[in-house]
Amino acid sequence: MVHGGAGALDNVQNQATAIRYLESLRGILEHGRKIMELGGSALQTVEACASLLEDDPLFNAGCGSVLNENGRVEMDAAIMDGRDLSAGAVAAIENIANPIQLARLVLSESEHVMLIGDGAMKFADHCGMPRTPVSYFLTEERVEQLKQAQRKHKMMLDHDDTEADSEDQKYGTIGAIARDPEGNLAAATSTGGIVNKRMGRVGDSPIVGSGVYADNETCAVSATGYGEDFMRTVIAKTISDFVYMKDLDATQATKAGIDYLARKVRGRGGVIVIDKDGNCSSGLTTKKMIHGWIEHGGQTTVRF
Ligand code: GLY
Repeated sequence: MVHGGAGALDNVQNQATAIRYLESLRGILEHGRKIMELGGSALQTVEACASLLEDDPLFNAGCGSVLNENGRVEMDAAIMDGRDLSAGAVAAIENIANPIQLARLVLSESEHVMLIGDGAMKFADHCGMPRTPVSYFLTEERVEQLKQAQRKHKMMLDHDDTEADSEDQKYGTIGAIARDPEGNLAAATSTGGIVNKRMGRVGDSPIVGSGVYADNETCAVSATGYGEDFMRTVIAKTISDFVYMKDLDATQATKAGIDYLARKVRGRGGVIVIDKDGNCSSGLTTKKMIHGWIEHGGQTTVRF
């Protein structure tokens, strides 16, 4: 399963844009299918699919990352292996084309789970990962989006119109989860965060248990939405716990998790979930979520 963000998604009302999103997801799912057919693991598959999502400027991750309050890109990413609960995460990093690949290196080449900011960049240098110039990330569209958000933020403060603001927000994030034929689960989530976020703000995406989780005994989860809501509800681990403690399948656990998110914090966003038996499910509290799946090796489905 993959997702490309949740929210009002008013920017995809246009049919041509909508088709571009869906075709991108379809191509990435097919790529994931090929990796698995060639014997790739769930972990390799989610890393490859998340990297492709980071490479597509349509999505808010990697080259398409949104800008923070200072007009800079600060990205977060995490990857988790359900075989042994090993995980790697990076937060508030800049100038890295594929943050998910750096997260994977944290998993495999360091003794830590998360590295942030300058320390993460130093680790990237140590691993020989090249620095990508700022121009790669700064698109005209993202600069304009930041200006709009900053204008609306002022209006929101003047009128305290939080509802209007929330509908306008773009909760973009990308995610990929997979189960391989050996029954191994893996999850990857990567994001530029939220438009106009404070410098140094870290969302749910790199937090194990919030924006990402995988455990072979339960399920794999990737979240997209307003990170603070997911961090406070530890939503990915909560969904895994529903599977573990109540023996729910993907559909039941997703519904229970989304109900909990909505009831406890009126959380805004969505999740994709694959359970230990390979069943796929998704749930959301926003109007839409761009996502797609291949269930039990069957047909490829993509939708909002
Ligand atoms: N879910 C992405 C973020 O809040 O940063």
